[in-house]
Amino acid sequence: MLMDIIKARHSIRKYTDKQIARSDMELILEAANYAPNAGGAQRNMMIGIRDKALTTRLGQMNLTKFDRSLLAGSYVSKEQPSNIDDPNIKNGFYGAPSVIVIFGQSNFLFREADAFCCAENMVLQATELGISSCIISRGEETFASDEGRAFMKKWGVPENYSAVCFVILGYIDGEQPHRKPRRENRVKIIE
Ligand SMILES: Cc1cc2nc3c(=O)[nH]c(=O)nc-3n(C[C@H](O)[C@H](O)[C@H](O)COP(=O)(O)O)c2cc1C
Repeated sequence: MLMDIIKARHSIRKYTDKQIARSDMELILEAANYAPNAGGAQRNMMIGIRDKALTTRLGQMNLTKFDRSLLAGSYVSKEQPSNIDDPNIKNGFYGAPSVIVIFGQSNFLFREADAFCCAENMVLQATELGISSCIISRGEETFASDEGRAFMKKWGVPENYSAVCFVILGYIDGEQPHRKPRRENRVKIIE
């Protein structure tokens, strides 16, 4: 059931080196390609990277402009610590062997909303395949350097596009985390 997949998904930040299959990445990209999108114009672009060395480099670039001081006092997860929880983490992609970069048209009002709809479809499809994932932000910052702009040019990303977010993919190292209890009074039905 879809609800089983929704509840089985966790943000995973500890990965083995095992790479995901190309056919699995194709299916995850297909799920993104069918996400709802504002105006039905299908503006977002997704680029899948199945190359651990490149994924690691992009993960380092993802933290280059990360300002921890803005997040003091926050805590994300004890079982799957994020870079907010642990200042020793230097890779914003946590050693995942694959990443999908989601780009949006820079001047489009709903670029972020569209991108995160794609990301959600991807993490659910990954869960069904037994692949662990995490949505990662700071898209624009990651590519805001000569090196970042060179990657975008090499990959054929149009000049009026910029990265919004990422979905990292791989196989969990260790046990699945427990889910935080749901906060009360967050959903209501009015009849
Ligand atoms: C918009 C958005 C941005 C996120 N950015 C990051 C991120 O940059 N780094 C990270 O480790 N997790 C990121 N996450 C994952 C959240 O931390 C995670 O979804 C949250 O802690 C709830 O845990 P769960 O996904 O396991 O239910 C992001 C999630 C969303 C929806």
